[in-house]
Amino acid sequence: MGIVVNQAKDTFHLYNEEISYIIGILPNRQLGQLYFGKHIHIQEDYSYFLEMPVRPMSSCVFDTDKKFSMEYIRQEYPVFGTTDYRMPAVEVFQENGSRISDFCFCGYRIEEGKPKLPGLPATYVEEENEAQTLIMELADNVSGMSLELLYTIFSKGGIIARSVRFANKGEQDLHLTSAMSLSLDLPDREYDWIQFSGAWARERYPKERRLEQGIQSVGSMRGNSSHNHNPYVILKRPFTDEFQGEAIGFSLIYSGNFLAQAEVDTFDTTRVLLGIHPFGFDWKLAPGEEFQTPEAVMVYTDQGLNHLSQTYHRLYQKRLARGYWRDRERPILINNWEATYFDFTEEKLVEIARKAKESGVELFVLDDGWFGARSSEHAGLGDWVANPERLENGIKGLSERIEDLGMKFGLWFEPEMVNQDSDLYRKHPDWIIRTPDRKASHGRFQYVLDFSRKEVVDEIYNMMEKILSESKVSYIKWDMNRSITECYSSVLPAQRQGEVYHRYILGVYDLYERLTSRFPKILFESCASGGGRFDPGMLYYAPQCWTSDDSDAVERIKIQYGTSYGYPISSMGTHVSMTPNHQVNRRTPLHTRANVAYFGTFGYELDLNALTREEQEEVKKQITFMKQYGHLFQFGTFYRLKSPFKNNVSAWMVVSEDKKEAVVGWYRVLNGINLPCERLRLQGLDASMAYEINGDGPAHYGDELMYAGLVTTDVSSGQADKPEELSQDFESRLYILKAVKGGRQ
Ligand code: GLA
Repeated sequence: MGIVVNQAKDTFHLYNEEISYIIGILPNRQLGQLYFGKHIHIQEDYSYFLEMPVRPMSSCVFDTDKKFSMEYIRQEYPVFGTTDYRMPAVEVFQENGSRISDFCFCGYRIEEGKPKLPGLPATYVEEENEAQTLIMELADNVSGMSLELLYTIFSKGGIIARSVRFANKGEQDLHLTSAMSLSLDLPDREYDWIQFSGAWARERYPKERRLEQGIQSVGSMRGNSSHNHNPYVILKRPFTDEFQGEAIGFSLIYSGNFLAQAEVDTFDTTRVLLGIHPFGFDWKLAPGEEFQTPEAVMVYTDQGLNHLSQTYHRLYQKRLARGYWRDRERPILINNWEATYFDFTEEKLVEIARKAKESGVELFVLDDGWFGARSSEHAGLGDWVANPERLENGIKGLSERIEDLGMKFGLWFEPEMVNQDSDLYRKHPDWIIRTPDRKASHGRFQYVLDFSRKEVVDEIYNMMEKILSESKVSYIKWDMNRSITECYSSVLPAQRQGEVYHRYILGVYDLYERLTSRFPKILFESCASGGGRFDPGMLYYAPQCWTSDDSDAVERIKIQYGTSYGYPISSMGTHVSMTPNHQVNRRTPLHTRANVAYFGTFGYELDLNALTREEQEEVKKQITFMKQYGHLFQFGTFYRLKSPFKNNVSAWMVVSEDKKEAVVGWYRVLNGINLPCERLRLQGLDASMAYEINGDGPAHYGDELMYAGLVTTDVSSGQADKPEELSQDFESRLYILKAVKGGRQ
């Protein structure tokens, strides 16, 4: 890893064994993008990357030259309107009404490691020589705006982390109306764009299309990153697949409004922009003020999409997630939501917990409905004190009873919200986000607290801190069940209303930071009506996230498969729930529900008392299995093998770091008859190790399993001798591979 600066040629080359990223200073002193991709040799001169053919009808920068137009030049952090007509990375609105600026290079610094981003989640380093950061200093002399582009290269992995700092060093008020975290100009458009989109209960389906001239984009203007789109996109070469080929990932460590965009111009170059959505964004910088953008993480690979995902998995697991739970196995939990909804008493909860404890569950989580006047969606949010009618001994008493059973206790909060029917709202009706003189729209009968205001965050912190310090709480599920409308903060001046969405999310991060510092051993799980805020920003504070409100096993295969493109399975909350399933009314076998849920942070979302004795025995075995293999699911390398979006049969697997253990999950939605023979080619094994499968039969070498494949042909195929051997719809299998000593047996 290193950063080579060639002052004579004005180039900066960031490299490690996998990648090179090369920046050049252009003749007009703006920054040009010369190369990003697989590692290339360090050369004296890369000026040939700067192609400038004469283009008729161009607008030109220099008076005596017809060639140099920013319209055709690949840039690092482009502005609009000084001969470039593509969408810019930055726009500064000035006092005279102009939006033109010209950010010229004025210096650079190289720092060991990686600076923190104040108030924002970001990747970090822990050891020496893990990363280096290049900081490019630019200034627009007319407006007085300065900016620094930060590029961090890590010693391992094809990763570049980027962000931008602005400082108003002039004398006039300036407004940032666009401040993207990254801009990357690529020399061609031979890419497929993959986005991760969907809706509530079917989040993060990969959707793919070829780039074409014009703009393709996804984003959120809802205040949360959203179920609809995720702040993560991939550009892959058309022939790239899961196992080979080039791809670049673009991921934003942010939980609010975002834009991810690719613009293909007239000459087939591609500009990628990623950052805070410019729609409605207007950040005032008075003289002396600064602004830091969120961080964006680009990953390049030439080894296919699994490799791309694994690079993000490792980075986000080890250098974005933090704290006590980062490297610890997560407890197996039971959550009462689908078991009781709002209908519970202390006794009922203890009954659920007792049965769960008998089966081996480690953590009992009390979901919505324990506080204030909360007996339905209509009341109580904002009043974070236990409802004595339901919980006569309060959270303190209940948590102690649960601990006496030998389990840990967890609690649900929705800190950002308030119902009108609540003491908090009655006391502070002006604390919600709403525009003066206009109707405030509700979502699930609740309103969004104005977290851009410190006093609001303080009050919620105090309520939460009190209950957490009085009781024995080991886990928090932090929910967020509606998006923002009528965005406006009653305490900000008119000129600063364009800051509210971002200030809101900074308030959310602040509350997370304060709570995680005050209670470092509490495990946080984020949630937003399931996966409405499943983004890297949240992972910095909460290492796991409730993946989706859809707990049906068949639906979950797609949701978890799609989510795995950008996020480690250790970040996905995955539970076994009742059948027929509460969302889609489907009946799936208990083993299939578990076989899907093992690939995540495992738990149950039901009352085990409601199961038959046989099912209860099966649950005990599942928990024993998960206790044995939890470390493998949490810390192993995850591979997608066969997509549920394209096939009736899908599969994935995890392999331990030493390659001596692996678990393959195989899932078939509908049964078939007289089926073709099937093999599944495995990944990531050691070719020369022999593996026993499910503890019996002859062992197979890794090379057989990877190149010839694991034979998965159905034993019954509709022709079994005994009817009970016939497989059914929603069938699944686990293959547990263990290396045997001494090779083939
Ligand atoms: C959201 C969550 C659920 C549950 C309910 C409670 O929908 O995603 O898991 O906590 O809220 O109201």
